[in-house]
Amino acid sequence: MNVLGIDTSCDDTAVAIVAGGRIVLSSVISSQTGLHAATGGVVPEVASRRHLDDICPALMRALDEAGLGLKKIDAVAATVGPGLAGSLMVGYNLARSLAWASDKPFIAVNHLEGHIYSAWLAEDDAPPPPPAFPVLILIVSGGHTELVMMAGHGRYGRLGGTRDDAAGEAFDKVGRLLGLPYPGGPAIQAAAERALGRGAIALPRAWLRGNDDFSFSGLKTAVLHLTQAHADEQPDRTEAGSIAPAIEQTAPGAANADGWVNAVAAGFQDSVADVLATKTAAAARRQRVASVVLCGGVAANSAIKARLRAALPDGLPLYVPRPAFCTDNGAMIAAAAYYRLDTAVDPAHSPDVSPGLALPL
Ligand code: KG4
Ligand code: ZN
Repeated sequence: MNVLGIDTSCDDTAVAIVAGGRIVLSSVISSQTGLHAATGGVVPEVASRRHLDDICPALMRALDEAGLGLKKIDAVAATVGPGLAGSLMVGYNLARSLAWASDKPFIAVNHLEGHIYSAWLAEDDAPPPPPAFPVLILIVSGGHTELVMMAGHGRYGRLGGTRDDAAGEAFDKVGRLLGLPYPGGPAIQAAAERALGRGAIALPRAWLRGNDDFSFSGLKTAVLHLTQAHADEQPDRTEAGSIAPAIEQTAPGAANADGWVNAVAAGFQDSVADVLATKTAAAARRQRVASVVLCGGVAANSAIKARLRAALPDGLPLYVPRPAFCTDNGAMIAAAAYYRLDTAVDPAHSPDVSPGLALPL
């Protein structure tokens, strides 16, 4: 069964075709990163307009790369939330129209459930076994940090999550403070790699003992204070007491030459990786799970992945999608839809998008 999946929840226009819920036949992602770099973040109106331009070419390319006509598509799926309302509407309405016009079932997919099912994706005709239930899932994306138990397909229980910033949001904000390009996640990883050998600046960890919650705002504030202090120490290059000049003088290019920025980036990444890995591993032991999934854009971070692997008990399988399937993509939406075909609806009567949608518990 071939499912066509569309995701336009934020700033990627993504269309993919997945066979049998697992095998990716094509996955097209038109990234808007360059468009939003100038503003240092996503401007919703700008994002939804670009989705309108990009969505039809992405759809045609996805069909083309899979070598399939619409006739060979059995169901159409799209993200309905959580995400930016205007962006969600573009993919959702195209998917619904396509399903209606070609008389196919339509599946409305929760973006977080999509991230979970990215761990089921494979590009081989003979995919390895999928995660065994019960699975412990850590979703770390730009908008969410959730620790979830999954007892079976569509059966979730929430253990904890962030009390303030999402992990990806913290990466993006700290990237900005350090004058690194948007999005902060990949830029911080690269800066941290450049720091290797010269060491990381030690930063605090919020353990919030006795529960499975996370907090990253204190860490972000610690970086802000460091940045201010660093600016004060450089009176010839910056105005004392002001953060803005510190950002300017470490703007892209300058930041790359700055060993101090690299050391802060490494310290920040260490702190996030340590807390995520230690708390997830503790939950995995306590819940006696059969496998663990790390997913969402921040799962593309190789240091976080390595730290979690090292913290988990030996022999407990860890699934981390390859980076292109950690960040937003259409394949994860098609996979989630395949396992939730029971929720298929008549596309003409599907409810509207839901920007604040939570995981169905
Ligand atoms: O899942 P995603 O593509 O979109 C949301 O659903 O939010 O996640 C985007 C987030 C951004 O905050 C980005 O900075 C972060 O994932 N990210 C990373 C890396 N690549 C992307 N964070 C840390 N290290 C990376 N290599
Ligand atoms: Zn996402």
